[in-house]
Amino acid sequence: MNNILVTGGCGFIGSNFIHYLFNQSDFKGKIINADKLTYAGNPENLKSIEKKYSDSRYFFEKIDIAKFSEIESIFEKYEIDYIIHFAAESHVDRSITGPSEFIHTNIVGTFNLLELARKSWKDRKDVLFHHISTDEVYGSLGDTGYFYETTLYDPRSPYSASKASSDHLVMAYFHTYGLPVTISNCSNNYGPYQFPEKLIPLMINNMLEEKSLPVYGDGKNVRDWLYVEDHCSGIWEIVKNGKRGETYNIGGENEWTNVDLLNILCEKVAVEKGKDKDYYKKLIMFVKDRAGHDRRYAINCDKIKAELGWKQSVNFEQGLEITVKWYIDNLQWMKNINSGEYRKWIEKNYLNRQ
Ligand code: NAD
Ligand code: TYD
Repeated sequence: MNNILVTGGCGFIGSNFIHYLFNQSDFKGKIINADKLTYAGNPENLKSIEKKYSDSRYFFEKIDIAKFSEIESIFEKYEIDYIIHFAAESHVDRSITGPSEFIHTNIVGTFNLLELARKSWKDRKDVLFHHISTDEVYGSLGDTGYFYETTLYDPRSPYSASKASSDHLVMAYFHTYGLPVTISNCSNNYGPYQFPEKLIPLMINNMLEEKSLPVYGDGKNVRDWLYVEDHCSGIWEIVKNGKRGETYNIGGENEWTNVDLLNILCEKVAVEKGKDKDYYKKLIMFVKDRAGHDRRYAINCDKIKAELGWKQSVNFEQGLEITVKWYIDNLQWMKNINSGEYRKWIEKNYLNRQ
């Protein structure tokens, strides 16, 4: 395994993946992390990696994948063997109020990467473009049924439509140009380093600040939750052994209504903070529903289990406990985000770099 270009490596899943990869004994190569450092990109997530590997195995490049010349400069500077593409605008609520960035980054950015991969790899077959996608491309389920790899795409938010569009481009490059590609469509992730706009870290943050816990609509929407490290192991398995030109679903097989999840989360935080088990539940507040709110997501991930021997390793109780502990132990990380301190730190350390 040689040089891996990770895009969006300063975000939630990307940074967990870089930590994961440097812990794998079968990975001996280099990582080039190309990230624009949007509001969601936080190099603080990779401080320990920088310290340990930046002289020889870890390289950071601040680039916008939606700008062709910027991504081209990476291909000129480094010999890239694998691309693992995480970079995206990832929050559904933001895609409702401002879809434009989603089109630029998720669609144009993916297209730029594919074009550069195609041109610089030519006929190389020992390379791979792995695209990280979401189960949201499949649309919304009723009370029963699952998303399979064969389920027809039916995206319903600007976010999921932009991801669906990029998935189609990736497969088009496989069929048209023979570019070696794989795609993973994963359910909702949770764990350390998740930006506190997403359900779980937002709610933990609000509990710690004794703020209200806003539940959209009736709180009965269902999501399938997967601990982020299990997503990382699935991606790594696909990169190593996945069949080129194939899509793999990755999921937790762990469905929860938002309100049930929140009740458990309240109890976990209460235990950690030494409070009565129901202490934080009084902060739960039902608010106006999200526009076009998908009702239920549920993944069937039999294919990756059967073909690649992958399985989840962290159960939900455990995963939530690790996650709650992490946010409490890393209060400063959250405070830096909330106060904008981390932005100042980025500006000092990264944005003004030559
Ligand atoms: P995130 O928002 O935490 O991180 C996104 C990263 O991409 C940030 O570091 C950001 O700076 C970078 N980025 C954004 N625009 C860029 C651009 N134009 N050029 C270069 N870098 C840019 O996202 P995440 O939750 O870590 O998601 C990573 C990927 O996984 C996304 O493709 C997302 O669609 C997918 N995904 C996420 C989940 C989930 O539950 N979070 C589930 C399934 C799939
Ligand atoms: P989110 O973390 O935004 O992920 P996604 O929309 O990609 O599934 O939201 C998860 C679920 O939680 C979703 O049904 C919307 C709901 N939600 C709330 O009820 N309140 C909130 O403040 C947020 C951010 C989400």
